[in-house]
Amino acid sequence: MSIFKFSIVILAAGKGKRMLTSIPKSFFPVYGKPMIQYILNTLKKIKTDNVYIVYNSDCENIKNSLNLHGIKVKWILQKFPLGTGDAIKQVIPYAYKDKHLLILLGDMPLIKKKTIKNLIKKYKLKRNFTIVTAFLKNPTGYGRIIRKNEKIIKIIEESNITSDKYLKIKEVNSGIFFINKKILIYLIKKIKKDKKTKEIYITKILNYAYKKDIKVTSLMVRNKSEIININNKLQLFVVEKIIRKNKIIKLLSSGVNIYNVSRIEIYGDVTHGKDLTIEPDVVLKGKIFLGNNVKIKNGSILENVHIEDNVTIYPYSYIKNTKIMSNSKIGPFAVILKSKIKKNTKIGSFVEIKNTSFGDFSKAKHLSYLGDSEVGKKVNIGAGVIVCNYDGMYKHKTIIGDNVFIGADTQIIAPLRITKDATIGAGSTITKNVLSNGLTISRVKQFSIKNWKRVKK
Ligand code: UD1
Ligand code: CA
Repeated sequence: MSIFKFSIVILAAGKGKRMLTSIPKSFFPVYGKPMIQYILNTLKKIKTDNVYIVYNSDCENIKNSLNLHGIKVKWILQKFPLGTGDAIKQVIPYAYKDKHLLILLGDMPLIKKKTIKNLIKKYKLKRNFTIVTAFLKNPTGYGRIIRKNEKIIKIIEESNITSDKYLKIKEVNSGIFFINKKILIYLIKKIKKDKKTKEIYITKILNYAYKKDIKVTSLMVRNKSEIININNKLQLFVVEKIIRKNKIIKLLSSGVNIYNVSRIEIYGDVTHGKDLTIEPDVVLKGKIFLGNNVKIKNGSILENVHIEDNVTIYPYSYIKNTKIMSNSKIGPFAVILKSKIKKNTKIGSFVEIKNTSFGDFSKAKHLSYLGDSEVGKKVNIGAGVIVCNYDGMYKHKTIIGDNVFIGADTQIIAPLRITKDATIGAGSTITKNVLSNGLTISRVKQFSIKNWKRVKK
């Protein structure tokens, strides 16, 4: 038997009028990721020929930020949002090699891989036309499935329903279709614009299929949340609540101590070791790894971080694109960006570290800025030390050797190098390389002017 090959179409060119936003709806952030990213994540392990995404020109930027997981995506521009039928029409000239198309909607982020697999299985039996439906207690907003002797005779959009009889129908169109391309081309030609909206509705092909005696099968989804589509901010709220809850359940099930489940946001993807503790108001974004016995204290925000065992992040720290190695203590109120913080370090309050590597057993405990620096082992950065790495035009590098002691309130004017074992006296402004391991100091000697008086008004 020949292998069953098909391509996927994702309709994602809708403007999102009902969302009241200028961001195209399918690209609007849903709990930290563009809506369509959830669908791409779900498709990751489904073998298809092509994935065609119908988009509009407003999402040019966001589309490049997506993680495609190596899926062969062909982007197809729909110039004007003339309806779901028009969106599919745009794909046909590109899909000349395809025999079967699975059509998904970009505003349905909770659809599960299992459902898609079931749909593939069902479609494969007849290879004509299969649609996904659901029975909803409250079908408001969805197109209704109209059947006669169990056969689907049409789908009516809610906006076109005039009789209560139809309004009460609980079986709805999910919007997901699997269709033989020849049949699609044959049927789609017949669609006329909707009288009210002037849009071309793909749902109209059901009635033509019935009239032409084309066999349509349906697959019912039981998990209603899978087919929630986000058309407005209220539906967005409902979906985000589900995603958030699932993420929290996942962490709790894998043994994480979350002090207050209603005060944590996990936008990112977290992997972790044992005895991870997360205090209230922590936000986790991007790719997060947290080792054994890591403690993230109140209000800290972590984005794309790799944190090894026995690290404590004290309250209100902000750490991004950074690796922190084992046994280090960070914060409170530390900012660490694009840096590598090695083992057994201490970085204290109001210290900002950027694009820097910070060696084992080194400390910067109070009020400092270190940028574009290489700090060796066992270095002590005194309170208020500032690396002046930027001259208004360029950034410059600072290298600080092992076992250096930098006295409080010192400014280091980069580029320069401080050799190992050097000591810098407090209050110095260091402008030249320090190549001696003795004491270097650059400050006006203390003197007093006797009988000096302040000016009085
Ligand atoms: C659609 C279905 C409805 C179904 C519901 C379920 C139609 C006419 N109606 O309604 O029967 O119950 O989905 O989710 O199909 N899009 C384009 N280009 C366009 C218009 C839309 O790409 O010109 C995309 C949108 O980005 C969206 C998807 O198609 O991802 C669905 O469009 P939307 O306007 O949300 O359709 P619904 O009114 O929800
Ligand atoms: Ca929708």
